Amino acid sequence: MSFQYYNPVASTLGCGVVDKLPEILKGRNAFLVTFPEARSLGLMDRVTSVLGSQLVGTEEQVQPNPDVAELAETYAQFWRYHNDCDVIIALGGGSAIDTAKALMVGTKTDRFDDLLTLLSTGKPFVPHKTKRLIAIPTTAGTGSEVTPWATIWDRVRAKKYSLHLDETWPEAAVIDAELMLTLPASVTVQSGLDALSHALESIWNRNANPISRAFAVSAAREVIDTLPVLLKNMQSKALRLSMASAALKAGMAFSNTKTALAHSISYEMTLKHGLPHGIACSFTLPMVMSRAIGIDADCDRALLDIFGGDLKAAPGKLEQFLRSVGVQTEFSDYGVSEEESTRMVLTALDGVRGKNFIGAIA
Ligand SMILES: NC(=O)c1ccc[n+]([C@@H]2O[C@H](COP(=O)([O-])OP(=O)(O)OC[C@H]3O[C@@H](n4cnc5c(N)ncnc54)[C@H](O)[C@@H]3O)[C@@H](O)[C@H]2O)c1
Ligand SMILES: [Zn+2]
Repeated sequence: MSFQYYNPVASTLGCGVVDKLPEILKGRNAFLVTFPEARSLGLMDRVTSVLGSQLVGTEEQVQPNPDVAELAETYAQFWRYHNDCDVIIALGGGSAIDTAKALMVGTKTDRFDDLLTLLSTGKPFVPHKTKRLIAIPTTAGTGSEVTPWATIWDRVRAKKYSLHLDETWPEAAVIDAELMLTLPASVTVQSGLDALSHALESIWNRNANPISRAFAVSAAREVIDTLPVLLKNMQSKALRLSMASAALKAGMAFSNTKTALAHSISYEMTLKHGLPHGIACSFTLPMVMSRAIGIDADCDRALLDIFGGDLKAAPGKLEQFLRSVGVQTEFSDYGVSEEESTRMVLTALDGVRGKNFIGAIA
Protein backbone atom coordinates (compact mmCIF):
# COMPACT_ATOMS: atom_id res chain seq x y z
CA MET A 1 0.00 0.00 0.00
CA SER A 2 1.21 3.53 -0.72
CA PHE A 3 -0.49 6.88 -0.45
CA GLN A 4 0.20 10.58 -0.35
CA TYR A 5 -1.28 13.09 2.09
CA TYR A 6 -0.85 16.77 1.21
CA ASN A 7 -1.93 19.99 2.88
CA PRO A 8 0.22 23.12 2.47
CA VAL A 9 -1.74 25.50 4.76
CA ALA A 10 0.14 26.86 7.79
CA SER A 11 -2.61 26.49 10.40
CA THR A 12 -2.64 28.21 13.79
CA LEU A 13 -5.38 27.28 16.27
CA GLY A 14 -6.12 28.70 19.69
CA CYS A 15 -7.75 31.50 21.66
CA GLY A 16 -6.41 34.96 20.82
CA VAL A 17 -4.25 33.77 17.92
CA VAL A 18 -5.44 36.66 15.73
CA ASP A 19 -2.61 38.56 17.45
CA LYS A 20 -0.17 36.50 15.37
CA LEU A 21 -1.37 38.10 12.11
CA PRO A 22 1.56 40.57 11.78
CA GLU A 23 3.99 37.65 12.11
CA ILE A 24 2.15 35.81 9.38
CA LEU A 25 1.83 38.87 7.11
CA LYS A 26 5.56 39.61 7.33
CA GLY A 27 5.18 43.28 6.38
CA ARG A 28 2.83 42.70 3.43
CA ASN A 29 -0.34 44.75 3.06
CA ALA A 30 -3.79 43.19 3.15
CA PHE A 31 -7.33 43.58 1.82
CA LEU A 32 -10.04 42.30 4.19
CA VAL A 33 -13.12 40.39 2.99
CA THR A 34 -15.87 39.92 5.55
CA PHE A 35 -19.64 39.75 6.19
CA PRO A 36 -21.84 42.75 7.13
CA GLU A 37 -22.40 41.85 10.82
CA ALA A 38 -18.66 41.43 11.49
CA ARG A 39 -18.43 45.15 12.29
CA SER A 40 -21.26 45.29 14.87
CA LEU A 41 -20.11 42.01 16.42
CA GLY A 42 -16.69 43.54 17.10
CA LEU A 43 -14.94 40.93 14.94
CA MET A 44 -13.76 43.43 12.40
CA ASP A 45 -12.25 45.74 15.02
CA ARG A 46 -10.45 42.80 16.58
CA VAL A 47 -8.68 42.14 13.28
CA THR A 48 -8.22 45.69 11.99
CA SER A 49 -6.66 46.82 15.28
CA VAL A 50 -3.99 44.15 14.85
CA LEU A 51 -3.41 45.04 11.19
CA GLY A 52 -3.03 48.80 11.60
CA SER A 53 -1.73 50.50 8.45
CA GLN A 54 -1.15 47.17 6.73
CA LEU A 55 -4.88 47.14 5.97
CA VAL A 56 -5.41 48.77 2.57
CA GLY A 57 -9.08 48.07 1.85
CA THR A 58 -12.20 46.17 2.87
CA GLU A 59 -15.18 44.42 1.35
CA GLU A 60 -17.81 43.99 4.07
CA GLN A 61 -20.87 42.90 2.12
CA VAL A 62 -20.37 39.13 1.74
CA GLN A 63 -23.76 37.40 1.86
CA PRO A 64 -24.31 33.71 2.76
CA ASN A 65 -23.53 31.41 -0.20
CA PRO A 66 -21.55 33.62 -2.60
CA ASP A 67 -23.62 34.08 -5.75
CA VAL A 68 -22.43 35.01 -9.23
CA ALA A 69 -24.81 37.99 -9.23
CA GLU A 70 -23.14 39.59 -6.18
CA LEU A 71 -19.61 38.46 -6.99
CA ALA A 72 -19.41 40.15 -10.40
CA GLU A 73 -19.36 43.70 -9.00
CA THR A 74 -17.24 42.85 -5.94
CA TYR A 75 -14.67 41.18 -8.21
CA ALA A 76 -14.53 44.10 -10.64
CA GLN A 77 -14.11 46.62 -7.79
CA PHE A 78 -11.41 44.56 -6.11
CA TRP A 79 -9.24 44.24 -9.20
CA ARG A 80 -9.86 47.85 -10.29
CA TYR A 81 -8.92 49.47 -6.96
CA HIS A 82 -6.78 46.91 -5.12
CA ASN A 83 -4.69 45.33 -7.83
CA ASP A 84 -1.58 46.17 -5.84
CA CYS A 85 -2.53 44.57 -2.50
CA ASP A 86 -0.37 41.61 -1.48
CA VAL A 87 -2.72 39.40 0.49
CA ILE A 88 -6.46 38.90 0.89
CA ILE A 89 -7.61 38.19 4.43
CA ALA A 90 -10.97 36.43 4.69
CA LEU A 91 -12.76 36.94 8.01
CA GLY A 92 -16.00 34.99 8.30
CA GLY A 93 -17.62 31.67 7.60
CA GLY A 94 -17.30 29.59 4.46
CA SER A 95 -19.11 32.27 2.48
CA ALA A 96 -16.45 34.93 3.21
CA ILE A 97 -13.58 32.50 2.65
CA ASP A 98 -15.04 31.18 -0.63
CA THR A 99 -15.68 34.77 -1.80
CA ALA A 100 -12.02 35.58 -1.09
CA LYS A 101 -10.97 32.50 -3.10
CA ALA A 102 -12.98 33.79 -6.07
CA LEU A 103 -11.43 37.26 -5.72
CA MET A 104 -7.86 35.96 -5.47
CA VAL A 105 -7.95 34.52 -9.01
CA GLY A 106 -7.49 37.38 -11.48
CA THR A 107 -8.45 37.31 -15.15
CA LYS A 108 -6.74 39.24 -17.97
CA THR A 109 -9.73 41.58 -18.31
CA ASP A 110 -10.44 41.88 -14.54
CA ARG A 111 -13.99 40.70 -15.41
CA PHE A 112 -15.69 38.05 -13.28
CA ASP A 113 -17.58 36.72 -16.33
CA ASP A 114 -14.28 35.56 -17.78
CA LEU A 115 -13.54 33.63 -14.59
CA LEU A 116 -17.01 32.09 -14.79
CA THR A 117 -16.40 31.03 -18.39
CA LEU A 118 -13.24 29.23 -17.28
CA LEU A 119 -15.08 27.61 -14.35
CA SER A 120 -17.95 26.42 -16.52
CA THR A 121 -15.55 24.25 -18.56
CA GLY A 122 -14.99 22.24 -15.36
CA LYS A 123 -11.30 21.97 -16.33
CA PRO A 124 -8.23 23.27 -14.48
CA PHE A 125 -6.69 26.47 -15.86
CA VAL A 126 -3.70 28.68 -15.18
CA PRO A 127 -4.88 32.00 -13.70
CA HIS A 128 -3.60 35.22 -15.27
CA LYS A 129 -2.66 36.56 -11.80
CA THR A 130 -3.33 35.62 -8.18
CA LYS A 131 -3.21 36.98 -4.64
CA ARG A 132 -2.26 35.05 -1.52
CA LEU A 133 -4.99 34.21 1.01
CA ILE A 134 -5.04 34.16 4.81
CA ALA A 135 -8.28 32.67 6.11
CA ILE A 136 -9.70 33.53 9.54
CA PRO A 137 -12.83 31.40 10.00
CA THR A 138 -15.52 32.68 12.36
CA THR A 139 -17.63 29.51 12.12
CA ALA A 140 -16.58 25.95 12.99
CA GLY A 141 -17.02 25.00 10.25
CA THR A 142 -16.56 24.52 6.65
CA GLY A 143 -12.85 23.77 6.72
CA SER A 144 -12.53 26.13 3.74
CA GLU A 145 -9.51 27.64 5.51
CA VAL A 146 -7.56 24.45 4.76
CA THR A 147 -9.02 23.40 1.39
CA PRO A 148 -8.18 24.65 -2.11
CA TRP A 149 -11.75 24.89 -3.38
CA ALA A 150 -14.69 27.26 -3.25
CA THR A 151 -18.36 26.81 -4.06
CA ILE A 152 -19.85 29.59 -6.15
CA TRP A 153 -23.62 29.58 -6.46
CA ASP A 154 -25.95 30.73 -9.24
CA ARG A 155 -29.39 30.88 -7.67
CA VAL A 156 -31.09 32.18 -10.83
CA ARG A 157 -29.89 29.26 -12.97
CA ALA A 158 -30.08 26.83 -10.00
CA LYS A 159 -26.50 25.64 -10.43
CA LYS A 160 -23.16 25.72 -8.65
CA TYR A 161 -19.59 26.14 -9.82
CA SER A 162 -16.56 24.67 -8.13
CA LEU A 163 -13.35 26.69 -8.10
CA HIS A 164 -10.35 24.44 -7.49
CA LEU A 165 -6.80 25.39 -8.39
CA ASP A 166 -3.34 24.83 -6.89
CA GLU A 167 -3.29 28.61 -6.43
CA THR A 168 -6.44 28.68 -4.26
CA TRP A 169 -4.94 26.86 -1.28
CA PRO A 170 -4.86 29.45 1.53
CA GLU A 171 -1.32 30.32 2.57
CA ALA A 172 -2.32 30.35 6.23
CA ALA A 173 -5.33 29.66 8.44
CA VAL A 174 -5.70 31.57 11.70
CA ILE A 175 -8.36 29.77 13.71
CA ASP A 176 -9.24 31.81 16.75
CA ALA A 177 -12.06 30.27 18.81
CA GLU A 178 -12.71 33.62 20.52
CA LEU A 179 -14.10 34.89 17.20
CA MET A 180 -16.76 32.17 17.37
CA LEU A 181 -18.28 33.14 20.73
CA THR A 182 -20.89 35.34 19.00
CA LEU A 183 -22.22 32.54 16.78
CA PRO A 184 -25.94 31.98 17.33
CA ALA A 185 -27.17 28.44 18.09
CA SER A 186 -28.53 28.00 14.55
CA VAL A 187 -25.20 28.67 12.80
CA THR A 188 -23.30 26.77 15.51
CA VAL A 189 -25.37 23.68 14.68
CA GLN A 190 -25.29 24.18 10.90
CA SER A 191 -21.56 24.70 10.67
CA GLY A 192 -20.81 22.00 13.28
CA LEU A 193 -22.80 19.47 11.27
CA ASP A 194 -21.02 20.55 8.10
CA ALA A 195 -17.77 19.59 9.85
CA LEU A 196 -19.27 16.24 10.90
CA SER A 197 -20.35 15.66 7.30
CA HIS A 198 -16.84 16.45 6.01
CA ALA A 199 -15.38 13.94 8.45
CA LEU A 200 -17.82 11.13 7.60
CA GLU A 201 -17.81 11.85 3.87
CA SER A 202 -14.02 11.56 3.84
CA ILE A 203 -14.30 8.12 5.47
CA TRP A 204 -16.77 6.54 2.99
CA ASN A 205 -14.69 7.95 0.20
CA ARG A 206 -12.73 6.30 -2.61
CA ASN A 207 -9.89 8.80 -1.99
CA ALA A 208 -9.51 8.03 1.75
CA ASN A 209 -6.06 7.25 3.13
CA PRO A 210 -4.85 6.39 6.65
CA ILE A 211 -4.01 10.02 7.48
CA SER A 212 -7.31 11.45 6.24
CA ARG A 213 -9.13 8.70 8.14
CA ALA A 214 -7.26 9.44 11.39
CA PHE A 215 -8.18 13.13 11.13
CA ALA A 216 -11.78 12.22 10.26
CA VAL A 217 -12.34 9.79 13.14
CA SER A 218 -10.97 12.27 15.66
CA ALA A 219 -13.04 15.11 14.15
CA ALA A 220 -16.33 13.17 14.11
CA ARG A 221 -15.91 12.02 17.71
CA GLU A 222 -15.16 15.56 18.83
CA VAL A 223 -18.21 17.05 17.09
CA ILE A 224 -20.51 14.38 18.53
CA ASP A 225 -19.09 14.83 22.05
CA THR A 226 -18.94 18.63 21.97
CA LEU A 227 -21.87 20.06 20.01
CA PRO A 228 -24.73 19.10 22.40
CA VAL A 229 -22.77 20.36 25.43
CA LEU A 230 -21.79 23.57 23.64
CA LEU A 231 -25.45 24.31 22.84
CA LYS A 232 -26.06 24.45 26.62
CA ASN A 233 -22.99 26.61 27.26
CA MET A 234 -22.46 28.80 24.21
CA GLN A 235 -19.96 31.13 25.93
CA SER A 236 -17.49 28.39 26.82
CA LYS A 237 -14.14 29.17 25.19
CA ALA A 238 -12.97 25.59 25.81
CA LEU A 239 -15.98 24.13 23.98
CA ARG A 240 -15.71 26.65 21.12
CA LEU A 241 -12.03 25.70 20.81
CA SER A 242 -12.96 22.04 20.73
CA MET A 243 -15.46 22.62 17.87
CA ALA A 244 -12.87 24.73 16.04
CA SER A 245 -10.35 21.92 16.42
CA ALA A 246 -12.90 19.34 15.18
CA ALA A 247 -13.74 21.46 12.14
CA LEU A 248 -10.02 21.93 11.38
CA LYS A 249 -9.38 18.17 11.57
CA ALA A 250 -12.42 17.48 9.36
CA GLY A 251 -11.04 20.07 6.92
CA MET A 252 -7.64 18.34 6.95
CA ALA A 253 -9.41 15.04 6.21
CA PHE A 254 -11.58 16.13 3.30
CA SER A 255 -8.91 18.45 1.87
CA ASN A 256 -7.40 15.19 0.59
CA THR A 257 -10.51 13.19 -0.29
CA LYS A 258 -13.16 15.80 -1.27
CA THR A 259 -16.72 15.08 -0.20
CA ALA A 260 -19.11 12.33 -1.31
CA LEU A 261 -22.80 11.44 -1.61
CA ALA A 262 -24.32 13.53 1.21
CA HIS A 263 -22.71 16.67 -0.22
CA SER A 264 -23.70 15.72 -3.75
CA ILE A 265 -27.33 15.54 -2.56
CA SER A 266 -26.99 18.78 -0.60
CA TYR A 267 -26.46 21.07 -3.59
CA GLU A 268 -29.98 20.48 -4.94
CA MET A 269 -31.45 20.76 -1.42
CA THR A 270 -29.80 24.19 -1.05
CA LEU A 271 -30.60 25.46 -4.55
CA LYS A 272 -34.18 24.19 -4.80
CA HIS A 273 -35.30 23.90 -1.18
CA GLY A 274 -33.25 26.70 0.40
CA LEU A 275 -31.62 24.56 3.11
CA PRO A 276 -28.46 26.02 4.71
CA HIS A 277 -25.37 24.08 3.59
CA GLY A 278 -24.73 22.45 7.00
CA ILE A 279 -28.24 21.02 7.25
CA ALA A 280 -28.44 20.08 3.56
CA CYS A 281 -25.22 18.03 3.79
CA SER A 282 -25.95 16.35 7.12
CA PHE A 283 -29.61 15.28 7.28
CA THR A 284 -28.93 12.39 4.86
CA LEU A 285 -25.83 11.14 6.71
CA PRO A 286 -27.62 8.22 8.44
CA MET A 287 -29.07 7.06 5.09
CA VAL A 288 -25.68 7.41 3.36
CA MET A 289 -23.97 5.58 6.24
CA SER A 290 -26.39 2.65 5.90
CA ARG A 291 -25.34 2.37 2.25
CA ALA A 292 -21.62 2.57 3.14
CA ILE A 293 -21.49 -0.11 5.83
CA GLY A 294 -20.10 -3.49 4.76
CA ILE A 295 -18.43 -2.28 1.56
CA ASP A 296 -14.90 -1.54 2.77
CA ALA A 297 -13.17 -2.94 5.86
CA ASP A 298 -11.17 0.27 6.56
CA CYS A 299 -14.32 2.36 6.34
CA ASP A 300 -16.18 -0.03 8.67
CA ARG A 301 -13.32 0.09 11.19
CA ALA A 302 -13.29 3.91 11.14
CA LEU A 303 -17.06 4.06 11.68
CA LEU A 304 -16.74 1.56 14.56
CA ASP A 305 -14.06 3.79 16.10
CA ILE A 306 -16.59 6.64 16.08
CA PHE A 307 -19.85 4.92 16.96
CA GLY A 308 -18.62 1.81 18.82
CA GLY A 309 -20.64 -1.36 19.49
CA ASP A 310 -22.62 -2.96 16.71
CA LEU A 311 -22.02 -1.25 13.36
CA LYS A 312 -25.57 -1.99 12.26
CA ALA A 313 -26.78 0.29 15.04
CA ALA A 314 -24.52 3.19 13.97
CA PRO A 315 -26.92 4.88 11.50
CA GLY A 316 -29.62 4.86 14.23
CA LYS A 317 -27.17 6.41 16.72
CA LEU A 318 -26.27 9.12 14.22
CA GLU A 319 -29.95 9.80 13.55
CA GLN A 320 -30.54 10.18 17.28
CA PHE A 321 -27.60 12.57 17.54
CA LEU A 322 -28.90 14.73 14.68
CA ARG A 323 -32.38 14.87 16.21
CA SER A 324 -30.85 15.79 19.59
CA VAL A 325 -29.45 18.97 17.99
CA GLY A 326 -32.75 19.72 16.26
CA VAL A 327 -32.17 18.27 12.78
CA GLN A 328 -34.77 16.06 11.09
CA THR A 329 -33.41 13.25 8.97
CA GLU A 330 -36.09 12.40 6.39
CA PHE A 331 -36.54 14.03 2.98
CA SER A 332 -40.26 14.36 3.78
CA ASP A 333 -39.32 16.58 6.76
CA TYR A 334 -38.14 19.10 4.15
CA GLY A 335 -41.16 18.79 1.86
CA VAL A 336 -39.47 16.43 -0.61
CA SER A 337 -41.65 13.59 -1.95
CA GLU A 338 -40.40 10.01 -2.12
CA GLU A 339 -40.34 10.19 -5.91
CA GLU A 340 -38.27 13.40 -5.90
CA SER A 341 -35.86 12.08 -3.26
CA THR A 342 -35.25 8.85 -5.19
CA ARG A 343 -34.45 10.85 -8.31
CA MET A 344 -32.28 13.26 -6.28
CA VAL A 345 -30.17 10.45 -4.78
CA LEU A 346 -29.68 8.81 -8.20
CA THR A 347 -28.66 12.13 -9.77
CA ALA A 348 -26.33 12.81 -6.81
CA LEU A 349 -24.67 9.38 -7.15
CA ASP A 350 -23.85 10.32 -10.73
CA GLY A 351 -22.44 13.74 -9.74
CA VAL A 352 -18.72 14.49 -9.41
CA ARG A 353 -18.82 14.25 -5.59
CA GLY A 354 -21.28 11.32 -5.62
CA LYS A 355 -18.76 9.26 -7.57
CA ASN A 356 -16.31 9.57 -4.64
CA PHE A 357 -18.75 7.53 -2.51
CA ILE A 358 -17.54 3.94 -1.99
CA GLY A 359 -21.09 2.72 -2.59
CA ALA A 360 -21.37 4.36 -6.03
CA ILE A 361 -21.03 2.09 -9.04
CA ALA A 362 -17.57 2.79 -10.47
N1 LIG B 1 -14.67 25.71 0.32
C1 LIG B 1 -14.97 24.71 1.13
O1 LIG B 1 -14.16 23.84 1.39
C2 LIG B 1 -16.35 24.71 1.75
C3 LIG B 1 -16.73 23.65 2.57
C4 LIG B 1 -18.00 23.68 3.12
C5 LIG B 1 -18.87 24.72 2.87
N2 LIG B 1 -18.48 25.73 2.05
C6 LIG B 1 -19.38 26.86 1.75
O2 LIG B 1 -19.47 27.64 2.92
C7 LIG B 1 -20.76 28.29 2.99
C8 LIG B 1 -21.34 28.11 4.37
O3 LIG B 1 -20.43 28.65 5.31
P1 LIG B 1 -20.77 28.74 6.86
O4 LIG B 1 -21.58 27.58 7.28
O5 LIG B 1 -19.50 28.98 7.55
O6 LIG B 1 -21.74 29.98 6.96
P2 LIG B 1 -21.70 31.46 6.30
O7 LIG B 1 -20.32 31.90 6.04
O8 LIG B 1 -22.64 31.46 5.14
O9 LIG B 1 -22.30 32.30 7.48
C9 LIG B 1 -23.60 32.02 7.94
C10 LIG B 1 -24.09 33.18 8.81
O10 LIG B 1 -23.33 33.21 10.00
C11 LIG B 1 -23.00 34.54 10.34
N3 LIG B 1 -21.73 34.49 11.09
C12 LIG B 1 -20.54 34.00 10.68
N4 LIG B 1 -19.65 34.06 11.69
C13 LIG B 1 -20.28 34.59 12.76
C14 LIG B 1 -19.90 34.88 14.11
N5 LIG B 1 -18.67 34.61 14.56
N6 LIG B 1 -20.83 35.42 14.92
C15 LIG B 1 -22.09 35.67 14.50
N7 LIG B 1 -22.52 35.40 13.26
C16 LIG B 1 -21.62 34.87 12.40
C17 LIG B 1 -22.92 35.27 9.01
O11 LIG B 1 -23.38 36.57 9.17
C18 LIG B 1 -23.92 34.52 8.13
O12 LIG B 1 -25.16 35.14 8.14
C19 LIG B 1 -21.59 27.70 1.87
O13 LIG B 1 -21.66 28.61 0.79
C20 LIG B 1 -20.81 26.46 1.45
O14 LIG B 1 -20.96 26.15 0.07
C21 LIG B 1 -17.24 25.75 1.50
ZN1 LIG C 1 -19.70 21.03 3.48
